[in-house]
Amino acid sequence: MTRTQRKLEHIHYALQTGQHRLSGFEDISFVHQSLPDLSTEGISLDTAIGGLHASSPIFINAMTGGGGKETENLNRDLAMAAKETGISMAVGSQMAAIKDPAQAASFEIVRKMNPDGIVIANLGGEAGIEEAKRAADMLKADALQIHLNVIQELTMPEGDRTFEGVLARIEEIRLKLDIPVIVKETGFGMSKETVAQLCSAGISILDVGGFGGTNFARIENERRQTALTLFNDWGIPTAVSIAEAVSAGEDTSILASGGIQDALDVAKCIALGADGAGIAGHFMKSLKEKGMTALIHEIEDLHQELRIIMTALGAKNIKELQDSSLVISGKTYHWLTQRGID
Ligand code: FNR
Repeated sequence: MTRTQRKLEHIHYALQTGQHRLSGFEDISFVHQSLPDLSTEGISLDTAIGGLHASSPIFINAMTGGGGKETENLNRDLAMAAKETGISMAVGSQMAAIKDPAQAASFEIVRKMNPDGIVIANLGGEAGIEEAKRAADMLKADALQIHLNVIQELTMPEGDRTFEGVLARIEEIRLKLDIPVIVKETGFGMSKETVAQLCSAGISILDVGGFGGTNFARIENERRQTALTLFNDWGIPTAVSIAEAVSAGEDTSILASGGIQDALDVAKCIALGADGAGIAGHFMKSLKEKGMTALIHEIEDLHQELRIIMTALGAKNIKELQDSSLVISGKTYHWLTQRGID
């Protein structure tokens, strides 16, 4: 099976396996405030992600790897939605286009459609500095995501079994690439230990990619109808992972992702300390089932609903939303208590 076919199957099974609601957001409650003393129009959604300044904390997370015409079409539609709504967008893994430059067009379309927007390149932890430079150049990217997907690889019979040298490669890329490097998980979450390791390598933007939404262990199992089910429920829920990352990542910009579907999820991620919130599977589902115009409306609604939540909380900007009061209960509370995170 080619890389392109595999990537298209991922989209198919991600939609079929569905978006679970297991990210722990139900354990997070805002404390109602009766005197917000502001108006919705005055609210700013601007946020700083490392050195990048974005007009929205919401971004389209990496999905569209593999190359080929279908990837190109998806990238075109997602880039259009990003441009129309002013949100940032990451592409899926560009390794296919690094290995076969004929596939580059399916990624370059993103920059062509959205010349002034924030566009983020994407490669896996196996990439070295030369590949990183080519991926960044392909998109005139504003940042590069490096994804970590150990559990997906281990679930696949033909997947990687050696994971040596990843942190050293990430550090070299961070030192030699002239755009920010974001290290992201892909649905299994980041622990405070992982965050500390990445910070020691100088990484200052992390996307926790938590458990609870798209689940690549389940996707790989469904794809093959085999049963390496060991990892089907493995991972750190997104709400927990944000708190873990914030506790370990001083001077680090934390991005939340993994199972985010609505404005309340986004607000909770930010209140837990995230500077931005990435949505992958849920946006793909909207695009495939309802089309690009519907996706644009959905993102506009998310922005408006986020402003409404911020009005209720009396938070006039992202910084104030990060400082709002929360109560944490249930499994998330137990997890954080046992891990010594308050
Ligand atoms: C992904 N994801 C992903 N991540 C990455 O860094 N590179 C990639 O190529 C892909 N490919 C990909 C394809 C499809 C179809 C999906 C749904 C997802 C992972 C994605 O960026 C994100 O980390 C997880 O999907 C968790 O977020 P959601 O989907 O729960 O919002």
